[in-house]
Amino acid sequence: MKIALIYDEPSPQGEGAWVEAEYESPRTIEALLAAIGAHCEEAVRVPFGPDLIERLRAEGPDLAFNIVEGRDGPSRESIAPAVLDFLGIPYTGSDGVALGISLNKALTKRLASQLGIPTPAFFLVHSAQEAVERAAGLEYPVLVKPNFGGSSVGIGPESIVRCPEALAQVVERELARYSQPCLVEAYVEGEDLTLGLLGSDDLEALPAGKVITPGGIYSELAKKTHEREILCPYDVPQEVEGKLRDWSVKIFRAIGARDFARADYVLGADGQPWFLEINPLPGLSPYYGVLPVLAQAAGYTHSQLIGRIISIVQQRLA
Ligand SMILES: Nc1ncnc2c1ncn2[C@@H]1O[C@H](COP(=O)(O)OP(=O)(O)OP(=O)(O)O)[C@@H](O)[C@H]1O
Ligand SMILES: [Mg+2]
Repeated sequence: MKIALIYDEPSPQGEGAWVEAEYESPRTIEALLAAIGAHCEEAVRVPFGPDLIERLRAEGPDLAFNIVEGRDGPSRESIAPAVLDFLGIPYTGSDGVALGISLNKALTKRLASQLGIPTPAFFLVHSAQEAVERAAGLEYPVLVKPNFGGSSVGIGPESIVRCPEALAQVVERELARYSQPCLVEAYVEGEDLTLGLLGSDDLEALPAGKVITPGGIYSELAKKTHEREILCPYDVPQEVEGKLRDWSVKIFRAIGARDFARADYVLGADGQPWFLEINPLPGLSPYYGVLPVLAQAAGYTHSQLIGRIISIVQQRLA
């Protein structure tokens, strides 16, 4: 079997699009290629770009291992899977529809609410004026984040807003910086929890992990510098872990995810967990990926995790 790792490369012009913060490092790409190579006859690399179709046709892989974040817009993660579907090449992970839904935090939160899963109250704003209009009746603090973000892009201590004046300011800055609607969400003070899932028809829930960050918020800076600690296994009350498993599986199914995902929660001081988002394209770096840490607590080495993902896809396709 020949497997092509499809990944992002920073733009050669060095225009530094904000989304590049989400790309895996060259060191991680090498490590993933080696891990994939341990589970097939040949592993090749195919960088994502305008010539993706030609490159895939030239390589002719039996399977693609997709980690592409894309460049811009709400469908940036959906492009590579859509191209692979178009070419009839099977691939690891979710299709473009599931990736598109999960990248839209507001839409995913609406789905979660419909499933009876608690998620912090929220609304979307498209202009600073809209923020001013809504600011008066709000219960503070709220957290402002880009609706189509990832890797905590645009999230830091300054995103926690405690008064109406600050709301308009923060929204204006974020709208200018990221050119996309802002999600204004009730801020839940508490612990960051995350839960991983592996599988398709049968889902295996990995042990829940707790993320400890220096400033108490899993910010863009903490993700860039990897300055955080993941406790897994972690002594989360059984009842909470049960809810996280149940909710993560429900959301995974509702968005139509496949093969693997990681769902993020905040555990309030009162013991109530709140759903934040699901990541069906979570980082798999052996150096700083979170899902590999959760998998390790379930007994998977990094190589075994990559092998497991490949075998889940093979089962799904059989
Ligand atoms: N409503 C909230 N209340 C408290 N903390 C929050 C809230 N929303 C986000 N956070 C903090 O910000 C972090 C990042 O938020 P979120 O998971 O929504 O963003 P992301 O950029 O999509 O992350 P990922 O890298 O997992 O894709 C959370 O892990 C948490 O620490
Ligand atoms: Mg997150």
